[in-house]
Amino acid sequence: MKHDKEKEKVKVPTILTLPSFRLLCYLGQLVFVLLLLACSASAACDGLDRDALLSLAFKAPLNWSASTDCCLWDGITCDPDEQSHVVAISLPSRGLSGVVSPAITNLTRLTHLDLSHNSLLGSLPDDLLSALPSLEFVDLSFNRLIGRFPQSSNQSSHLQIINLSSNFFNGTIPSSILVPSVSVFNVSNNSFSGSIPVSNGGNHTSLTFLDLSFNEFTYTIPLGIGLCSKLQTFRAGFNDLNGSLPDEIFMLADLKQLSLPFNSLSGPLIDGIMNLTNLRILELYSNQFLGSIPGGIGNLFRLEKLLLYVNNFTGALPPSLANCTNLSTLNLRLNNLTGELSAFNFSTLQRLTTLDLSNNNFSGELPQSLYSCKSLTAIKLASNQLTGEISPEIVALESLSFLSISTNNLTNVAGAFRILKVFAIAGCQLTGQVPTMLAKVMTLEVLDLSFNLITGSIPGWMGSLPNLFYVDLSNNLLGGGFPIAFCGMPVLTTKEAGDMVDRSYLELPVFVVPNSATYQQYNQLSNLPPAIYLGNNSLTGSIPSEIGRLKYILVLDLSYNNFTGSIPEQISNLTNLEKLDLSYNHLSGGIPASLGSLHFLSSLSVAYNDLQGIVPSGGQFDTFTNSSFEGNPGLCGFPTGKLSCPQSPLPVVSTAQKSNTHGIFKALFFGISFGIFFGIGFGLGLNIDDKRIPFIARRMMKT
Ligand SMILES: *[C@@H]1O[C@H](CO)[C@@H](O)[C@H](O)[C@H]1NC(C)=O
Ligand SMILES: *[C@@H]1O[C@H](CO)[C@@H](O)[C@H](O)[C@H]1NC(C)=O
Ligand SMILES: *[C@@H]1O[C@H](CO)[C@@H](O)[C@H](O)[C@H]1NC(C)=O
Ligand SMILES: *[C@@H]1O[C@H](CO)[C@@H](O)[C@H](O)[C@H]1NC(C)=O
Ligand SMILES: *[C@@H]1O[C@H](CO)[C@@H](O)[C@H](O)[C@H]1NC(C)=O
Ligand SMILES: *[C@@H]1O[C@H](CO)[C@@H](O)[C@H](O)[C@H]1NC(C)=O
Repeated sequence: MKHDKEKEKVKVPTILTLPSFRLLCYLGQLVFVLLLLACSASAACDGLDRDALLSLAFKAPLNWSASTDCCLWDGITCDPDEQSHVVAISLPSRGLSGVVSPAITNLTRLTHLDLSHNSLLGSLPDDLLSALPSLEFVDLSFNRLIGRFPQSSNQSSHLQIINLSSNFFNGTIPSSILVPSVSVFNVSNNSFSGSIPVSNGGNHTSLTFLDLSFNEFTYTIPLGIGLCSKLQTFRAGFNDLNGSLPDEIFMLADLKQLSLPFNSLSGPLIDGIMNLTNLRILELYSNQFLGSIPGGIGNLFRLEKLLLYVNNFTGALPPSLANCTNLSTLNLRLNNLTGELSAFNFSTLQRLTTLDLSNNNFSGELPQSLYSCKSLTAIKLASNQLTGEISPEIVALESLSFLSISTNNLTNVAGAFRILKVFAIAGCQLTGQVPTMLAKVMTLEVLDLSFNLITGSIPGWMGSLPNLFYVDLSNNLLGGGFPIAFCGMPVLTTKEAGDMVDRSYLELPVFVVPNSATYQQYNQLSNLPPAIYLGNNSLTGSIPSEIGRLKYILVLDLSYNNFTGSIPEQISNLTNLEKLDLSYNHLSGGIPASLGSLHFLSSLSVAYNDLQGIVPSGGQFDTFTNSSFEGNPGLCGFPTGKLSCPQSPLPVVSTAQKSNTHGIFKALFFGISFGIFFGIGFGLGLNIDDKRIPFIARRMMKT
């Protein structure tokens, strides 16, 4: 900064007239001589410091040239008062690579060291902190440093800010590192282990921010935490901490954020929590806490985020929670909470944007008071025992764009049809026809009505909803044909319509199984594949040739229906198709060879139809196995194992190996039921295995 200002003062003349040019040359020479004198006489940067800096030898384009004053080098600041000792190195995001040389410990006056956001490798000199007694600020975050925390008995007692986060450090951290002057200590996102470096002696009197998250810390939270009386932020999530929360933690009157998710913490959450009246964020999700949510929680009137999901909390929502009027996110998903939900008064929670109470045992009707929470953008109440109707008043929730109420006993959902982008009422035992009110929901992008008892036919108007790109009507009782109008879905037929869809961020993740048996969690609508799932209904008639218009579709599943006729050649116009399932129908005729030109097709099944002739070869066909084609006695050719078709003129090869169709059938069946199991489990958020999601997610985050 300082050097930048100096640079501005030097105005270089850009136009030189000839007579003045010669004069300038002389002047230049004079200045050069003066500069030489200045270098030898006046105190520029300290010689030892300069040598130390040169030995650092960072691999980066820095103007660190031995012939210039090192106080003018990139990122270097010298002490102006004394003999120009180097006091600060500030080179964040400068593309530095190489190691941090032990030579750095020769810069004995250094107070400020910022080498964050570079690509530094190797370990730190063990005496880094003890050899630099004036050091106040160290930021080495976002590098590739390894090895243990630089540790020695008598390190700088001026240290205030230590940030070694987002590296690959490991080993333990002794609590003596946290000298009384330290106010910010951030070692998150490394592989540190052992116990939390807080001593029970109470000498961390300045500590304000303590971030230990994403490491491998174990054991219980030390009682000494209660003596860190200035602590405002304590984050130690994504570790292996166990035991219960020590009562001492409730002595931290300044605490604004307590984040301990993804540990093995257990025991009840005691009423002592009501002392933490400054708390804004309380994140204890994915632990093993049990007992009820403390009645005193209403004392935390500044609370903005309360995330207690994936624990074993029981009992009802404490009425006092209604006093947390600043609450914007309330997520209690996957606990064992019970009671009439309508007994809780939501109307005071006017800032609430995200509410997730799914996978609990709440009963009774949807609380009327919920409809007055005008800030709500996402509601997830799936997998409870809620009954009754969704009131038309839900229309008043103008910001609502996500509603998931799957797996409840709700009946009339007509009131919910409005400005939703995502409408997921899967597995709700819905009867009757696809509700015609949906035809008016022009904003609808994702529709999941799977696993219900919906009858009637697929309405043609679905083909004209301008934003719809994901339709799952599978596992219902739908009859009739494949409507030609459906083939006109704007987003799936024209690129322009697709580009205009606002696939913005979702407040709560939806779980769907798009392409494979591995579930994925989508926070971004743009990550959902454009898809039509109509499997396991009673659809009849032929697949219309107009299907070739759905050029932008990625997944088409028409399996387990009664479709007849041939596979339309036009399917090969669906050039983006990744998965095509036509299995278990009554399709006849041959397999169009042109399907081989679908370059992205990675999954194909036409099994169990009445198809005939030679399975085409070449292109993607060479990647499919017999399971894609089995159950069609009339098919022959490469993967089927039958080298000749009954009526085909191909030469008969004797003892053509008969494949073990029975075994393959079993494997296929297993594959299908596996897929459906996950489909239901994650699509509907059933209680079953949902607890595993965070653990898998955690592994993904850690790797
Ligand atoms: C090095 O570059 C900085 C700008 O990045 C400049 O202010 C400084 O004068 C240069 N130092 C030398 C010795 O060239
Ligand atoms: C610690 O550093 C990480 C980045 O590595 C950052 O995301 C986090 O917010 C920091 N913690 C605190 C408490 O500032
Ligand atoms: C939750 O409690 C049930 C019994 O009430 C127990 O079987 C289960 O292991 C507990 N889960 C956790 C994560 O502690
Ligand atoms: C909310 O706080 C007020 C005092 O500020 C108290 O009288 C009331 O009982 C509290 N409400 C609940 C539901 O706890
Ligand atoms: C199709 O749905 C019925 C219920 O409607 C169910 O019993 C059956 O198992 C499903 N079949 C497949 C293959 O998913
Ligand atoms: C399919 O593509 C062919 C060209 O490959 C084109 O002539 C035909 O009109 C397309 N059909 C449809 C239904 O888009």
